Parts: sequence; C-alpha cells; structure tokens
Amino acid sequence: MSADRPRPLVAGNWKMHGLKSSVQVLHALAVGYPPELKAKVDLLVCPPATLIHAFALQAHGSDIAIGAQDAHAEASGAYTGNVSAEMLADLGATHVIVGHSERRAYHRETDAEVRAKAEAARRAGLTAIVCVGETREERESERALDVVRAQMRGSVPEGMDASRLMIAYEPVWAIGTGLTPTPADVAEVHTLIREEAGTLVGAAEQGRVRILYGGSVKPANAKELLAVENVDGALVGGASLVATDFLGIARAYLD
Ligand code: 13P
Repeated sequence: MSADRPRPLVAGNWKMHGLKSSVQVLHALAVGYPPELKAKVDLLVCPPATLIHAFALQAHGSDIAIGAQDAHAEASGAYTGNVSAEMLADLGATHVIVGHSERRAYHRETDAEVRAKAEAARRAGLTAIVCVGETREERESERALDVVRAQMRGSVPEGMDASRLMIAYEPVWAIGTGLTPTPADVAEVHTLIREEAGTLVGAAEQGRVRILYGGSVKPANAKELLAVENVDGALVGGASLVATDFLGIARAYLD
C-alpha cells in the first residue's frame, strides 16, 4: 500500500437482520478491536435503520463507525415509509450505502436515482458508498467492464469530496453465493473504477477514493481478496453478522 492510498475499511452490511438485542454484537466488536487492529483498518457497521441510533450510542468511543443501507434523495416530504440522509445523520450515522444491487433489483432503482441518493448523502454530510457490479449473465457475456463503467458514470455525482466517497464493487453473482471472482478479475474491475473515479473527483484525488470489494467475503478468503491492487477494503454481508467472522476479515490486515 503506497503512502497516498486510503486507510483500509471493513464494512458490514447487515441487510434486513437484527433486533434490539443485536447491540451485543457491537459490544463484541468493540472488545475485539484493539489498538493494533485500529492502527491498520477502520470498521463500519450498517445495521437496519431501526438500529442505527442504538448502535451509534453503543459504538460511542469504540472508533467503530455506524452507517445506513439506503436514504431517500429528498431531505423531507410526503414520502411515506422513507428515511432521509438528514434523518440518518441525526441518528448518528456517518455513512450510507446507496445503489446496492438488492435495491437496484427489488426496488428498480436506476443509476439516476442512485446518483440522487449519493447527492443527498453529500448534502447531509454523510460518506456515500456507491455500489456497482455486474450480473452473472453480464460477466458470462464479457460485459462486466462495460456495465461497471456505465454504472460509475451514471450513479456517481461529479465533484464529490474524495474522502467522502467510496465505491463498492459487488458482482451480483458473488453476493450470498460463496462464489468470488479471481483476484485478477477483481484487479481488472477495481483498476477501471479507479480510472473512472479520476474523471469524477480529479486525477489528483482519485487515489483517496476507497474502493471496496463485496460478495462472499469470509475470514478464509479475506487475505487473498484484500491484497489485490486497488482493493481498499471489503463490504461484507452475511459474515458481518457474527463478530468473530467480521473481526476475522478485518484481521487479514494484521500481517
Ligand atoms: P455477502 O457477503 O453475504 O455475500 O453479501 C455481500 C453484500 O451484498 C454486501 O453488501
């Protein structure tokens, strides 16, 4: 890792899991995040919106950041059931995932909507984690790079502060399946994302954008995936629900 590269980040996306009692997982994470690990890697946990406030209170003083999984593009208004970036910030969130493939698929979110949500994150002072990634069909027909390039151009606003922007490369076919791309394939896509980030935040700043890999990251494969060039961390689903697994992934940075 060169000097101008961002500090690595391991982020957990809890998806629609967790109840009030899950705050104990956060306690276990704080206990398992000693100074030698803090020196190497940042941690972020993105629980459902219902748990953000409790998690933010529990995480206080632990150096573990709390984030959300989605935000409405508007700050407030007649949008029954939605939650704005400002509301998430008010609860103690510092980050928000936007454009996860599950939202793109189940809620038909378009690139333009994802971009508007990333703008909302900026407006509210949150770090946006913009997700991109190809489907199995797109990978098999050798369109992965074209798809990710188009998602980058359509979903990421221009002129974001590089330190407040992260891109998560999550191949749809790798999410929850136990399948992962080869390190060479990850490197190819992350290099493309770095280049595209340069046109959005400027060449001088592109190295500061964190590019996370997501999709079936486990303690057993973390070292290999996180060592790939231009991989600045991981966005972890299932394994983030278990403190020892999540910490096991972060500990890949220890040696
Ligand atoms: P899994 O780690 O469960 O494959 O999920 C990845 C993901 O979707 C994170 O956002």
